[in-house]
Amino acid sequence: MNDQILFRPPTSRDAVAMRILARDSQVLSVNSTYYYALMARHFQATCMVAEGAGGICAYGIGYCPPEQPDTLFVWQVGVARAAQGQGLGKRLLIALIQQQRPDFLEATIAPDNRASINLFRSVARQLAAAHTFSKPAFFDAEDLGAGEKAEHLMRIGPFAEQSTTK
Ligand SMILES: CC(C)(COP(=O)(O)OP(=O)(O)OC[C@H]1O[C@@H](n2cnc3c(N)ncnc32)[C@H](O)[C@@H]1OP(=O)(O)O)[C@@H](O)C(=O)NCCC(=O)NCCS
Repeated sequence: MNDQILFRPPTSRDAVAMRILARDSQVLSVNSTYYYALMARHFQATCMVAEGAGGICAYGIGYCPPEQPDTLFVWQVGVARAAQGQGLGKRLLIALIQQQRPDFLEATIAPDNRASINLFRSVARQLAAAHTFSKPAFFDAEDLGAGEKAEHLMRIGPFAEQSTTK
């Protein structure tokens, strides 16, 4: 199945599917469909979807923080449950890096999300880039509200020129 996957920037028509993947993950924050549509419209160059025979099976949403134009901050990455553990998340992030060609990739992760930590470490290893996972929280649990966990910053890079070239 993984070989038949097309990686492409999302359009607003993918918003409903991205929201469903977020909802079904039971891990990701679920935002409004409007929000996903807006990200696809305004941040297409820093977002990516994976499309298989059954439709959208993974997505990544990111942006470059205005103060850090060399950094692609990945806000959400999600893979359909049935497709997890088959290298799809890693391929999607690498496709996103090759599309946008940042010097650094960042994301925040709850320290108990082993799948996510391993995903970003695996991307760093594949692209022969350094990575750090910050000890101090990027957002404390109190910042994020009731029931939420602290999020720590994963930073990967700098990427070598050839690793971000298709
Ligand atoms: C995190 C997530 C995107 C990973 O996608 P995936 O396609 O399953 O990951 P991959 O198959 O590409 O694996 C990448 C690496 O992570 C590791 N990994 C994947 N799932 C794992 C798990 N459940 N536990 C531990 N490690 C895991 C793999 O072994 C691999 O490491 P390796 O290259 O050293 O072997 C996916 O599990 C998911 O959608 N989870 C729910 C949403 C979420 O937590 N998103 C991240 C926060 S924004």
